[in-house]
Amino acid sequence: MEQRRVLPTVEDTEALGRELAAELGAGDLVVLDGPLGAGKTALTRGIAAGLGVRGRVSSPTFIIARQHRAGERADGPAVPLVHVDAYRLGGDLDELDALDLDTDLHDAVVVVEWGLGVVEHLADRHLRVRLSREPESDTRTAVWEWIE
Ligand SMILES: Nc1ncnc2c1ncn2[C@@H]1O[C@H](COP(=O)(O)OP(=O)(O)OP(=O)(O)O)[C@@H](O)[C@H]1O
Ligand SMILES: [Mg+2]
Repeated sequence: MEQRRVLPTVEDTEALGRELAAELGAGDLVVLDGPLGAGKTALTRGIAAGLGVRGRVSSPTFIIARQHRAGERADGPAVPLVHVDAYRLGGDLDELDALDLDTDLHDAVVVVEWGLGVVEHLADRHLRVRLSREPESDTRTAVWEWIE
């Protein structure tokens, strides 16, 4: 079932990420969609905080995929996070293959910005989060759903 939330501030977006993290474990794929600056990386920062992984989440502009080692997780088994920005891949499936995300998916949570239509086949199901924004406003809206 699709869920929706209005996110007035970046803190609200990060808080949603922390909440979503509670549903995530090894093998789970998260596909983030939304325009530049919609808050995909901010949401990932919240997911990382919820999972308790190590290292600061940043926009992987020059690195396509960043690995965060498992840390301390209060609400479940510790799990690593792989944060991918598929923007620069531009749908290049060979480069995507080279990232070997299916191997990561054995024991990590994999979050992919700009992954819509590109990475879904890597897992049996995925959490799709769409972020949208209004011009001249900080408010974002998130719509999310597990797709089987
Ligand atoms: N409600 C909000 N939710 C998320 N970010 C917000 C919000 N209000 C303002 N911002 C700001 O918008 C920017 C969102 O940037 P972020 O890098 O998370 O977007 P992105 O979707 O990852 O962009 P890109 O496609 O370039 O990777 C940040 O500067 C953040 O502080
Ligand atoms: Mg980003």
